[in-house]
Amino acid sequence: MIDLRSDTVTKPTHAMRQAAFDAQVGDDVYEEDPSVKELEDKAAEMLGKESALFVTSGTQGNQIAILTHCTPGSEVIMGENAHLFVYEGAAMSAFAGIQSRTLPAKRGALDPEDVRAAIRPEDIHFPETSLICLENTHNKAGGVVVPLGNMQDIYDVAREHGVPVHLDGARLFNASVASGVSLKRYADQTDTVQVCLSKGLGAPMGSIIAGPTAFIQRARKWRKRLGGGLRQVGMVAAPGLVALTEMVDRLKEDHEHADRLAAGIEAVDGLVLEEKVETNMVLINVKEAGHDADSFLTELEEEGIKAVKYGPYTVRFVTHYDVSGEEIDIAVERIQKRFG
Ligand SMILES: Cc1ncc(COP(=O)(O)O)c(C=O)c1O
Repeated sequence: MIDLRSDTVTKPTHAMRQAAFDAQVGDDVYEEDPSVKELEDKAAEMLGKESALFVTSGTQGNQIAILTHCTPGSEVIMGENAHLFVYEGAAMSAFAGIQSRTLPAKRGALDPEDVRAAIRPEDIHFPETSLICLENTHNKAGGVVVPLGNMQDIYDVAREHGVPVHLDGARLFNASVASGVSLKRYADQTDTVQVCLSKGLGAPMGSIIAGPTAFIQRARKWRKRLGGGLRQVGMVAAPGLVALTEMVDRLKEDHEHADRLAAGIEAVDGLVLEEKVETNMVLINVKEAGHDADSFLTELEEEGIKAVKYGPYTVRFVTHYDVSGEEIDIAVERIQKRFG
C-alpha cells in the first residue's frame, strides 16, 4: 500500500530507534531527564526562543499555549480553517473556556486589517482579546506557506494592541525548507510557537512549545495539570533530537515528490489541482472526473493507494519519508491508468 494519507504515518528511522535504545533518562517531572533537556535546548536554539518544552502532541502543545496565554471568558482570533478551530475538538472551549473569533483566510493568511478590526476595545460588554493564533504551513489550505511579511504585519498590529501571537507551526520546518526563510525569522514574528516532531520529521511522538522562559515555566505547570508530565521520557525525546538534527533538510525531497505527484495527477482529464503545491501536500478536486471524494478514494484504494477526504469533492495526498520517489511514480502510473 502506498500510504499518502498524512506525514503522521511515518515510522521512526533506524537512527531514531537506536537513539531511543541508547537514551540517557531520568524523571522529567523533576526536570532530570538529560535527553529531554538536550531536545528542548536544541529546539529553543533552532527557533531562537529563550526556552522550550517537550509535549506529547501538536494538539497538546497548542492547547497548553492557549491555557497559558488566556483567561476563561476571553477571545482568541484565528483563521476560519485553522487546525485549532477545525480539528482540535473545540478543546479551547472545553478546557480553557475560550471563545473563538474566526476570520476569513486567503491561502492560510489572515488580513492584518481584519485582525486589527477584530481586536476588542475595552468595554464591559466585550470579551477581552487574549491571543491571535496563526498557522504555517497551513494544513487545510493545502500545505501552503504563509508569507513572512504577512506574519510580520499581523505581529505589528498585535504588539500595537498588546495581544500575544501564537504560531501553530506543526509543519514550520516544511515552510522554512520551501521558502528558505529560517525557523528563527518565522518564530520572531510570534511570542510562542508549537512545532511537531512527529509529522514530516518522522519522530514517533512529540511536539515542542517554545517561547520566553517565564511562559514556558507556566506552560510546564499546565502540562502537568493535563497529565502530560512524563517520567523517563528521554526514550522518545532522543528520537525527537534525531528528527531535529537529521530530518529537516531532507523535507525538500518530500516537496519534490509532491510536485511530481501533482503534475502526474493533473495530467488526467477532470482531476483538478485545487491549490498550487508549495510543500508536501496535494489537494485534488475530483468532481469533473465524475467522482466525489468517497468514490474516488474507494477506487484509489483498489489501486493500492491511500489518501484522505478533504471536502465533498476534495482529496488530499501528503508525501513523506516513508514513500520513495519510485513509489510516487508507481502511484502516478496507477492513477493515470485508472482515472485517465
Ligand atoms: C497544523 C496542525 N496543527 C496541529 C496538529 C495536531 O498535531 P497532533 O496530531 O500531534 O495532535 C496538526 C496535525 O495534523 C496539524 O496539521
